[in-house]
Amino acid sequence: MKAESSRGEWSSKIGFILAAAGSAIGLGSIWRFPYITGQSGGAVFVLVYLFLVFTIGISLMMAEIVIGKKGRLNAVGSFRRLGGKHWGLVGWIGVIAAFVILSYYGVIGGWTMAYVLKSFTGLISTSGSGEVAKIFEAFISDGKQMLFYQGLFMAATVIVVFRGVSGGIERLCTFCMPALFILMILLIGRALTLPGAMEGVVFFLKPDFSKLSGEVVLSAMGQAFFSLSLGIGAMVIYGSYLPDKTDIPKASLQICFLTFMISLMAGLIIFPSLFAFGMEPGAGAGLTFITLPVVFAKMPGGVLWAASFFVLFFFAALTSSVSLLEVVVSYMIDSLGWDRKKATILLGVLISVVGIPSALSQGAVTINVFGVSFLDAADFFASNLLMPAGGFLTAVFIGWVAYSAGFDGITGGGAVPFRHKKLWMFILRFIAPVCILVIFIAGLKW
Ligand code: PFF
Repeated sequence: MKAESSRGEWSSKIGFILAAAGSAIGLGSIWRFPYITGQSGGAVFVLVYLFLVFTIGISLMMAEIVIGKKGRLNAVGSFRRLGGKHWGLVGWIGVIAAFVILSYYGVIGGWTMAYVLKSFTGLISTSGSGEVAKIFEAFISDGKQMLFYQGLFMAATVIVVFRGVSGGIERLCTFCMPALFILMILLIGRALTLPGAMEGVVFFLKPDFSKLSGEVVLSAMGQAFFSLSLGIGAMVIYGSYLPDKTDIPKASLQICFLTFMISLMAGLIIFPSLFAFGMEPGAGAGLTFITLPVVFAKMPGGVLWAASFFVLFFFAALTSSVSLLEVVVSYMIDSLGWDRKKATILLGVLISVVGIPSALSQGAVTINVFGVSFLDAADFFASNLLMPAGGFLTAVFIGWVAYSAGFDGITGGGAVPFRHKKLWMFILRFIAPVCILVIFIAGLKW
């Protein structure tokens, strides 16, 4: 089969893990997780998130990778090959979700690039948190800057996807992820020793169950899907480049663990600092960008720390945006026979254009949908609705339709032992679909 033989493979096992973890770890853990936690009451949200990541999240990740490995095509093609024509619909939901997410992901990705430069131009030397917040406000209400940096970030994404999935992405991840990890550990040390930091730790880690609500659980589910890159076929694609004898459960556990760790670390930097500086945890989408510069300013050589952090943050975002674009591009290549270059450029431009309202909705122009900014509305639609819907159908697909392919794929045809096969299947058949439905019903207040 032509499609099979012309597909690349990961050059090493670690290459796959790095790329999949690179897709997972990104703005979701460092930008989205802290601000949604801040808006959703703190530790109780973190607890629900933790639970969802290691039950439904990990099971769905294994399911998606298996679908790719057995289907050997993009998401739409793999679902069709294993389950028949109608199941291509699941892949389609993914293509639409990836399109929507990337449209605003490019905007926030642009912020990380802008902040690399701003680190050198006064952001870090300003004294108080008020000043930093003002700089941020001025930045996001400047339409020209928003569009410029969004364009720049999208151009970077297009260039990496252009070069094909295994080469560019693997290399990018090998250096950046360990560096990010180390830098964040240093930052935790700084944040935790600020006077008044403990209050933030309590907010972040000591659950107040009176804050638990359907909405909080829905947000935690959205965050689990978003941060693990689930429900839209990204892991299907990465799985489709996987050699036969890979230990998928182990790889999935590693990816979920790493993603959770980075989120936890981001929280341990941001919340102690927030409380130490007397700032608001519910400040919204700018939280990371208004907190961190104040922390950097409290470190010797702060400008360099800041610039290094935002460079790594940018790369983390890039390895995720690349996988979002890959979802859309690989569909066009596999299904419509488009050339990779043509597909990448055309879709990159189209998605950037669709992202313009999101870019401008942060202050340059008032564009509200259902009382929230255009960007927030697009994010809610993709993360809390489309991704869990895709996840629901993926669970049903492997649980009830393609389960023999599932069993076969997860053990590499018997070559890799997996002791928790039954538990995995039980979660996919019953727990995941029921939980997702219940959370939808409770969270959307139908
Ligand atoms: N997981 C990425 C993040 O947390 O930034 C976002 C993402 C990438 C979601 C790829 C979905 C996806 F397919």
